[in-house]
Amino acid sequence: MLFKQQALLRQKLFVLGSLAIGSLLYLVARVGSLDRLQPICHIESRLAPPGLPGQIPLRTLQYKRGLLHELRKGNASREQVRLHNLVQQLPRAIIIGVRKGGTRALLEMLNLHPAVVKASQEIHFFDNGQNYARGMDWYREKMPFSYPHQITIEKSPAYFITEEVPERIFKMNSSIKLLIIVREPITRAVSDYTQVLEGKERKNKTYHKFEKLAIDANTCEVNTKYKAVRTSIYTKHLERWLKYFPVEQFHIVDGDRLITDPLPELQLVERFLNLPSRISQYNLYFNATRGFYCLRFNIVFSKCLAGSKGRTHPEVDPAVVAKLRRFFHPFNQKFYQITGRTFSWP
Ligand code: A3P
Repeated sequence: MLFKQQALLRQKLFVLGSLAIGSLLYLVARVGSLDRLQPICHIESRLAPPGLPGQIPLRTLQYKRGLLHELRKGNASREQVRLHNLVQQLPRAIIIGVRKGGTRALLEMLNLHPAVVKASQEIHFFDNGQNYARGMDWYREKMPFSYPHQITIEKSPAYFITEEVPERIFKMNSSIKLLIIVREPITRAVSDYTQVLEGKERKNKTYHKFEKLAIDANTCEVNTKYKAVRTSIYTKHLERWLKYFPVEQFHIVDGDRLITDPLPELQLVERFLNLPSRISQYNLYFNATRGFYCLRFNIVFSKCLAGSKGRTHPEVDPAVVAKLRRFFHPFNQKFYQITGRTFSWP
């Protein structure tokens, strides 16, 4: 009898203890997110719909990682959506490229901002004829739930290099903000090559060396038919976009600096998007094991990008690198001139 009572008491103590620890952990998590819950002051925004108050309600921020996350998983009822005044908005800014420039890192880091909601998947609406034919409602339905004051951002790096895309985006919204993240062109090309190589290896296929693809064996000149080279001729692609959008509608992000020192780059983007500065050093920490900055949402939640980001690149023959440098040099100069952003690319 006594033994039974003791067991019951122990069981009760265990339940109480678990409850206490659970509550404590919950409190710690909430306190950790407090610094992200300051009411956001005025967004002097060309982006904010006219007539709506310029403040993001506090609850918006509280729900950012709670309810919105649930909704993304499809767990919310229509009633919740209606009650919280949630909407699926077309993007007011798009990361149009460049592939392997750091597009995922940029999107994830911008998503740290309480007024930004990311479309998690690459939607490929404007570059894929079949998707485009499905119409704007299909595109909107691919967007995450958000509050009317938040801005939705999507990224599909194929947009930058696909012929039809500038006109199609222009038709949707001629004043949309366009983000392009670039890296030193040869590094980007090698990164591109490395991704394709990994795909081939996964399928047990062989693949050429980078040098063989980048240099035309007949002419010994740079092979401009090789996609990884063509994509890195940033100015060629940008010129097509400039037929539709003024240069002020683009913001160029330095992808090399986003790797080594992300905050200043993110602050420039905040300014470009007319958002108050909310991403801080607290949200970014260097993870020595990954060799990259990772994201901290609060004291409990943090994450690094997937292992497919940050691959080891193969060594490239210095003679080929030298040839590529000479090749890219004039295009790079033109790119600096057009965008007004200079990089120390060799
Ligand atoms: P590498 O794999 O060549 O290193 P994208 O998302 O456009 O495909 O770009 C991938 C690149 O993002 C990676 O190229 C990596 O260098 C870069 N990157 C930038 N910031 C990163 C971060 N915080 N974590 C991981 N990769 C990051």
